[in-house]
Amino acid sequence: MLETRTENFVIPEARVARIRQCIDMLVSIKLLDEQSEMTNYRLEPEVTRQPGDLVVGDAGQRGRDKLLLGTLAEAGARRRLWLDITGEQVVGIFGKRGTGKSYSLGLLLEGLASGAGSTRLAELATPRGALVLDIMDIFWTSTIPLINDGSAEVRKQFAIMDKAGFQSRALSVDLWIPAGFQNPAIDPPGVRQLYIAAHELELDDWASLFEVDVFAEPRGMLIADMLNYVSRDGYTDVRNGNRIAPDQQFTFADLSAFLENCSEIQGVYQDTTVRSIRQRVGTYGAQALFSGTNTPLTDVIGSFRVSILMLARLPDPLKNVVVSTLLRRLMRERRDASFAQKRLDLAGDLTKEESTRLAEIISTSVPRTWVMMDEAHNLAGTGPNGMARDTFVKYAKEGRNYGLSLAVATQQPSALDPRLTSQIETLIVHQLTSPKDAAVARENIRSPLPSATNVDSQPVSVDDLLRRLDQGTTTFSCANAPALNRLCVVSMRPRTTAHGGYEA
Ligand SMILES: Nc1ncnc2c1ncn2[C@@H]1O[C@H](COP(=O)(O)OP(=O)(O)OP(=O)(O)O)[C@@H](O)[C@H]1O
Ligand SMILES: [Mg+2]
Repeated sequence: MLETRTENFVIPEARVARIRQCIDMLVSIKLLDEQSEMTNYRLEPEVTRQPGDLVVGDAGQRGRDKLLLGTLAEAGARRRLWLDITGEQVVGIFGKRGTGKSYSLGLLLEGLASGAGSTRLAELATPRGALVLDIMDIFWTSTIPLINDGSAEVRKQFAIMDKAGFQSRALSVDLWIPAGFQNPAIDPPGVRQLYIAAHELELDDWASLFEVDVFAEPRGMLIADMLNYVSRDGYTDVRNGNRIAPDQQFTFADLSAFLENCSEIQGVYQDTTVRSIRQRVGTYGAQALFSGTNTPLTDVIGSFRVSILMLARLPDPLKNVVVSTLLRRLMRERRDASFAQKRLDLAGDLTKEESTRLAEIISTSVPRTWVMMDEAHNLAGTGPNGMARDTFVKYAKEGRNYGLSLAVATQQPSALDPRLTSQIETLIVHQLTSPKDAAVARENIRSPLPSATNVDSQPVSVDDLLRRLDQGTTTFSCANAPALNRLCVVSMRPRTTAHGGYEA
């Protein structure tokens, strides 16, 4: 007789078969139950004519570098969706609170940090870095691979990843914080400190830092004068008549000396005005952030690595200043590197020495970079705090030419600077219920709309579809997607490192 033997007793084969049948039944009931909880999306026409995975985001469909976003969540084949990042991208992630925006930004981060070559998360050939401007301090958790151990939160996140058949491993992620804002009592080990030099700040940054209007207020005009005299014109020392030469690499000490000793501003500004600015210059100059040597961007951003800059502890004006100065420096350095690359690629008359020099400049420059920011309406919005918005708009408009990509997430697309929104080519939209925000999302969809959309067998509009997206399910649309016939619905993949965007 056929039988199954355990250590202590024997179960007849017929009984084993019956038990198996029961287990199968229970499993299928559970599966059906799970499926019945999931919303059913049916869109027409067919999403693509091409078989297999969808790889979209590059007009030339080069597919050299790509990030796995998830799988189609529509009726039909469950194809995987990859974002082709061979060319540069401006990605927008919209959605109301708690729908999965930070999680989706985390997926992009994980892909970019997964190293050169081919993994489950990405295929990367071109050296690129990424800088996460983390104004909520929730992305440092990307340094923690998910394991089936530890806290209930980690085990919960592991279970989601495991069920979808993903494994976790350590990624190339570095943590940075502006100097002076570290807190060794709570910070994870290995957080590096960022320093910014006074001469990196532009007039707008000073205005933001000192909370003054540089055009209308005497204090603002004094700041403008101060920067011009110190960095461009030089001035005369009132004590001895000596000429102080201009210095473009000026420090806070140089600014203090100017306010103390410049003869040209004597009698032009009231004493109280000068004193007020001198006091502010002294206060900021004493801050650790502005006291060290400017941290080179090549220290912060490395190829096939993601750097997370923790900004939550900074007051808003300082957040704006740090973000603006870094973005400007990144654009400046990448502009020069890409100029050098184009000369090397295109100029036919270079001497051997010139070619060597250009190649060296390129290899020691900051690599192509993705900048990522969550809750982008805060710094790049139209509200009073969005002081870095002009820099973001410039970055989004011009960055592509210099090998710079951008990914921004927001729960309030209608509050984002429209000049930035209009640059978005790849749009990932989680559930949106506010008509105002849904309208902004709809207006910025760059793929053709479906000819028919059904949710749970009911015909719906695009706005209704946005209202009916499950957590972690998004619409995906992309300007550079010749293979994509229309907007599609995607179930974003699970994260493989810890997601830090939960309430604790
Ligand atoms: N693709 C996904 N797979 C599995 N779970 C997900 C996915 N996306 C989101 N979630 C779940 O949804 C929760 C909320 O996601 P997330 O923190 O990204 O929301 P959010 O839109 O950023 O919210 P908030 O506006 O509050 O910042 C996550 O903690 C996670 O449990
Ligand atoms: Mg979030």
